[in-house]
Amino acid sequence: MLQPPRNLNLRTACDDALARFVADNPLSGVEFERACALLPGGNTRTVLHYDPYPLTMRNGTGARLTDIDGHEYVDFLGEYSAGLYGHSDPVIRSAIDAALADGLVRCAPGRHEAMLAAIMCERFSSCEKIRFCNSGTEANLMALSAARVATGRSHIMAFDGAYHGGVLYFVHGADPINVPYPVVMGAYNDIDVTLQRIEAHADRLAAIIVEPMLGAGGAIPGDASFLTALREACSDHGIVLIFDEVMTSRISPGGLQGVVSVRPDLTTFGKYIGGGLSYGAFGGRDSIMCQFDPRHAEASPHAGTFNNNPLTMAAGLAGLTGCYTEEVADRHTALGDRFRAQLNAVASKLGVPVQVTGSGTIMCIHFQTEPIGRPADVGAVDPMLRVLFHLEMLRRGFYLAQRGYMSLSLPLTDRDLTDFVIAFEEVLASNASIFE
Ligand SMILES: Cc1ncc(COP(=O)(O)O)c(C=O)c1O
Repeated sequence: MLQPPRNLNLRTACDDALARFVADNPLSGVEFERACALLPGGNTRTVLHYDPYPLTMRNGTGARLTDIDGHEYVDFLGEYSAGLYGHSDPVIRSAIDAALADGLVRCAPGRHEAMLAAIMCERFSSCEKIRFCNSGTEANLMALSAARVATGRSHIMAFDGAYHGGVLYFVHGADPINVPYPVVMGAYNDIDVTLQRIEAHADRLAAIIVEPMLGAGGAIPGDASFLTALREACSDHGIVLIFDEVMTSRISPGGLQGVVSVRPDLTTFGKYIGGGLSYGAFGGRDSIMCQFDPRHAEASPHAGTFNNNPLTMAAGLAGLTGCYTEEVADRHTALGDRFRAQLNAVASKLGVPVQVTGSGTIMCIHFQTEPIGRPADVGAVDPMLRVLFHLEMLRRGFYLAQRGYMSLSLPLTDRDLTDFVIAFEEVLASNASIFE
């Protein structure tokens, strides 16, 4: 008998899943239509959009979310790593409550920022001094600008596949929306090509900015040898090496830099360190950071109305001291490694071309068996596969990104992880002929 073409099966399965989603989520559909009248695509944060429309969430507790149609989800997205503490951690909550009681918008230094700086400099030992801002994007912009001032050079090197913020987007090459810094593109995890490009532009390069693991680019860890080669090239040519650890600082007590034993000149932070509130920070060598010391006549300005907003400073301090201690960071990272291994074991057992890449509790599901060491290794995937997988997991009560990204929060239980593995196996097994 003539077999239907594979993509016909996929299309049918995907159409069915989309129709079911729409039938199951009418109130989110109404909310989406309403938002579309006022926000382009009903959206004010691009990554939150997915097909056919995103679920509107009503509330969250621990590691659980409830949407406005009344469905409950176990949250495996973890706010793209910013939600490490879950939705209602009592330690974070009481720090925020106490800070609220002390009053907002005080336009003065508070008691918490130097304490948060102290714990961060202790944990991330390449940081001698730190400054806070409001987002990871802002942290990267400030670090790049600081490097340009410190070196008197113009260009930066970034990597294909990297994401450093809304105006520092390199996931599919340098995006036209980016800030107009002159950019030399490096090749992630490709030492030879990258070193050639550094040599060719060395006297113009102020900074090399790199994620020790590509996050948005598909959870592809940087090789220690690659990151070490960047360190050496930067030292040889007087280039500032910036590690963007906005996502990866949670992987080990001292971030991924601690794991690969590479000491950047500057590091940028964001996400979970703010305890779930808007947050960013950049820090590193005192010889670079001292340009922001306002006691000096020639100091560079670093402004920002909410840089030391009291709620974030208090929540951040409570999080690192009372929740994500060094021991917890080690334990949580090991749990993420085990969970990823379990998912990969399921995919191999079923013989479906699916793999989960990442490090510790940050990971990404890819629909291919070919190994992924560089962004270019990620093959073209029919977007319907991702849609189908995502909607099937949502239907089973697991919240993750349509692009396959997941990050594990602290309140997830062993039972939640086991249930996810079971659902993952069920979705892959029941659609095996489509996924293979
Ligand atoms: C590695 C990396 N850098 C920077 C950013 C930007 O951070 P924010 O969204 O806080 O501006 C992100 C956000 O996902 C990120 O993953």
